Amino acid sequence: MSKVAIVYHSGYGHTAVLAEKVAEGVRDAGQTPVLLKIESAAQDFAPLIEQISQADAVVFGTPTYMGDVSGVFKVFADATAGVFFTGAWKDKLAAGFTNSHSFSGDKAHALASLTILAAQHGMNWVNLGLAPPGVTAAERGPETLNRVGSFIGLAAQSDNASPEITPPAGDRETARLLGVRVAEAAVRWTRGAQPALSEAA
Ligand SMILES: Cc1cc2nc3c(=O)[nH]c(=O)nc-3n(C[C@H](O)[C@H](O)[C@H](O)COP(=O)(O)O)c2cc1C
Repeated sequence: MSKVAIVYHSGYGHTAVLAEKVAEGVRDAGQTPVLLKIESAAQDFAPLIEQISQADAVVFGTPTYMGDVSGVFKVFADATAGVFFTGAWKDKLAAGFTNSHSFSGDKAHALASLTILAAQHGMNWVNLGLAPPGVTAAERGPETLNRVGSFIGLAAQSDNASPEITPPAGDRETARLLGVRVAEAAVRWTRGAQPALSEAA
């Protein structure tokens, strides 16, 4: 069984909703999610980093604050520099999601930061794999999958309301599908890493 770590920050609970849905998708694909919430910039990141080291794939999640990952997420990212020097995360799979108030809100920049974090660790990026919505702007509703039309990861949009009601259903389902996609990729990836039967004999 493949293990997928979902490491995320959420200042006000909206990005956390997506993390739970990614975990649901991993479970739906028959694999094991490990939800790792970054609580604060002052925490000891060592236990969290250890859990990630034991996973086959990692999904990074952050709200978009000031057009980039949140400051708290960035402190976590910097704390992974020690792992960079050991190469312990090299060849794991990685993916990402973000969430912000505006339809764009420069979420693509936050996702790009997540891909760079993964690349610096030598990880292999799994993109969203969902076509942008084939509907007109007028038809685009709260149930629409990949509502803002992102390719490299999930970009969700939350209104200024409780996480109980926003982000909307389409974004939540897109997060679940990202979890399924990463879990299925992790199964294929780890199977490929095992020695062929002829080599093992
Ligand atoms: C410090 C700060 C900066 C923000 N910057 C952006 C931004 O650049 N673009 C945007 O669309 N929304 C921005 N927002 C809105 C948040 O992205 C939005 O409220 C999001 O749902 C928060 O997610 P969370 O509840 O997981 O923290 C910002 C919010 C805060 C608190």
